[in-house]
Amino acid sequence: MGVIRSVVSGTGSYLPERILTNKELEKKVDTSDEWIVERTGIKQRHIASETEVTSDLAVKAAIKALESANLAATDIDLIVVATSTADQTFPSTATTVQFKLGNTNGAAFDVQAVCSGFVYALTVADNFIKAGQSKHALVIGAETFSRILDWEDRTTCVLFGDGAGAVVLSAHNGAGNNNDRGILASRIHSDGTYNDLLYVDGGVSSTGTIGFLRMKGKEVFRHAVVKLAGVIGEVLEDSNMTSENIDWIVPHQANKRILDGTARKLQIDPEKVIVTVDKHANTSAASIPLALDEAVRDGRITKGQVVILEAMGGGFTWGACLLRW
Ligand code: ACO
Repeated sequence: MGVIRSVVSGTGSYLPERILTNKELEKKVDTSDEWIVERTGIKQRHIASETEVTSDLAVKAAIKALESANLAATDIDLIVVATSTADQTFPSTATTVQFKLGNTNGAAFDVQAVCSGFVYALTVADNFIKAGQSKHALVIGAETFSRILDWEDRTTCVLFGDGAGAVVLSAHNGAGNNNDRGILASRIHSDGTYNDLLYVDGGVSSTGTIGFLRMKGKEVFRHAVVKLAGVIGEVLEDSNMTSENIDWIVPHQANKRILDGTARKLQIDPEKVIVTVDKHANTSAASIPLALDEAVRDGRITKGQVVILEAMGGGFTWGACLLRW
């Protein structure tokens, strides 16, 4: 039976110019390049300039994604921005992106699921496309996490960076089997029990302040590998596939040890895991589309391959998408 599939028709990304190395961080807090590399794999991160806001990063990534899809901004009928670092409390960053792109078609809104934001946003957009409510959706992950870091807390400030990535999802007709191109399965989960393991200690209706990111890293780590391996298993099962069918995993880039641990648990060759955490650190909702764009542009990900995107973040939230490129 014929079905509508959401096919990625373009990718793009943007990183702020300023690079902050581990060596520079040694001068700010009591840390060392050696500790950061050994525990996380991170060597550097990009930091937005004082005048750059999240929507600026998002727009730059979006323009590149539109170019690679060969589409104009006015062809887009849905914009979903995944972010936890919005320009303003309201309106949404997505409507600002829409305005900056010169688009007034359709709808634009934000999705907030922290590091899982991009998987959530992609799942939402996929459902709009499958329901026939969108033909070309722009899905963006964009963050300025440097603005919510406590630069005196060495346990968190060394882990994050700023950036943006985007994809265009376009409606295509499929046969309804797992040979179709496009998103074949997606699963998203949340469990608010774990709020206190990873959160920001401020908010509009609580403290009236922006707050800083707080994390119990060891406990987050413990949950990450189990939950990520579990949700990857779910999308494989939904698609009638096994880990042997996977060509590439594009994980949320939090920590090299989480990436290695998840690959090991699923018995997937580490060579099939796209890694950018060394250069970008954790850019939350932006990390998957940033890594995806790199692997598409350097020719690793090619048409017809099976790609899994997976993430876990504050909430906890977690999820995975399986797609045939
Ligand atoms: N530099 C030097 N020493 C440090 C630093 C630092 N930047 N940060 C912590 N330490 C010290 C600690 O104070 C501690 O010292 P102590 O033993 O004297 O008390 C020691 O290093 C060990 O600290 P741990 O927290 O036990 O170190 P761990 O091996 O767990 O690594 C880390 C910490 C990297 C945060 C790890 O737990 C982790 O990656 N967790 C996952 C968290 C994550 O990635 N979250 C992102 C969002 S969720 C997601 O995306 C999956």
